[in-house]
Parts: sequence; structure tokens; C-alpha cells
Amino acid sequence: MDVVVVESAQEVAREAASRVTDFVRRHPTASIGLATGGTQLGLYRLLTDAYRRGQVSFADNRFFMLDEYAGILPTSTNSFQHVVRSEFLDHVDAAPHSLHVLDGTASDLHAEAQRFEQILRDSGGVDLQLLGIGTNGHVGFNEPGSFPNSRTRPVRLHDDTIASNAPYFSSPADVPRAAISQGLETIMEARSILLMATGTTKAKAIAEMIDGQITAECPASILQGHSGATAIVDSAAASLLASRV
Ligand code: PGA
Repeated sequence: MDVVVVESAQEVAREAASRVTDFVRRHPTASIGLATGGTQLGLYRLLTDAYRRGQVSFADNRFFMLDEYAGILPTSTNSFQHVVRSEFLDHVDAAPHSLHVLDGTASDLHAEAQRFEQILRDSGGVDLQLLGIGTNGHVGFNEPGSFPNSRTRPVRLHDDTIASNAPYFSSPADVPRAAISQGLETIMEARSILLMATGTTKAKAIAEMIDGQITAECPASILQGHSGATAIVDSAAASLLASRV
């Protein structure tokens, strides 16, 4: 895994936006896996700016959701598909129906996960997967203990994930306890991966991901085995890295 350390959260977004823009220019029909979370928002804003300046087009890309809450309507501002549309896709020239969602309101989430995996397979897989990382080392909603061979599936959220996401809801009690997420093996099949992390709250997870053993206790550590993975982190998130202290 390549690691790029920059000074600030703004520079993380700038570096990621420049890489995504270059990638899409070189691969205009690429499939892109979209993540949510506060860390992605700066990237989506810069990609929208680049589109408005005529520097990039997303007209021929396909998009795949990384994860989604269970039981949250797609029209809710908390729905991850709502976030990627309202923060990014609605502002660029992405084709209608180019976003492949995970439907967290499906009555059978196992069947929904299989439907999504089938579409991924039929379309040839993800070329560039965007990722954040949880304070507990999760990627997507693959919480500690997730198996390396996990595929898209319904999952339970850990308490620290519920606490991290509580600010987006009116009360912690409103945060869903379940979700549907691409699995670790699904993510590892993406041809390239761009993970972003900012702030001291991510420093421990980043150190475990990069310097630690590959272990289910830090699901993101599996990315050590991906030759096309790059982590872009700010100096606060990099502050516990052995190689940089
Ligand atoms: P964040 O979430 O960008 O809001 O920190 C990242 C994640 O939990 O994967």
C-alpha cells in the first residue's frame, strides 16, 4: 500500500481529487465505488468544481455504493445514496441510473446483497474504490472481526461506529444498528483503492492499518495486501505512524 502524508484535511481532499480526476480522464468508462462519511465531502466538492471548470466528465462512468444503513429511506438525508447524489452526482454529468445502490429498505437484505454482487460481477467489477476508515479500523461497514473472505452482506454496527455517526442524527438512539456493506473480499477485488483519513481520531486506526499485523481486529489492515491501494492522510492522522515519528 502506498502512503501519502500531507499537511491538512484540505490537502487530503485536493490530492485525492487530483488523482480521481486524472484516473477518470484516463479511464472515462471506469466503475467507481463511492464512499460516504465526512472525509469524502471535500473530495466530492472538488470533483464537482473540476466538472464545472470543464476539467473532467463523469458521463460514461458507473458508480457503486460501498455501504448503506438498513431501514433508512433513500429520500432521507441520512441515506448514503442520498448523500452521494446530493453531494456529488446531482452536480455533475453522471448519467441517470449510473449509480448502483444498496437498498437498505429491502425486505430481504441477504437477497439485496446477492443482487448487488451479481451486478458488480456482470459489470466487470470496480476500477477505483474510494474509502474512509472508522476509528475502529472499519472500511465500509466491515467492523472488527469481519472475515477477509466476506462479501456484500447485512451487518451489525459496533457501538463506536454508532457513536461516531450519532452527530448526523437527532439522537444516538436514532442511529441504525444494522447496515448492508460490501465485504472485505469485495473491496479487495477493486483494481485500485483510494483511502482518505484526517484528524487525530483516526491516528490509531491508521497506525494499525499500515504498521500493524494484518488482523480482523483492524479490518483496514487487509489493504496491506492490495498492490493498487493508496492511503492519503493528513499529518494528524499520520501522527502515530512508526515510520514517520
Ligand atoms: P468519516 O467516516 O469520514 O465520517 O470519518 C469514515 C468511516 O467511518 O468509514
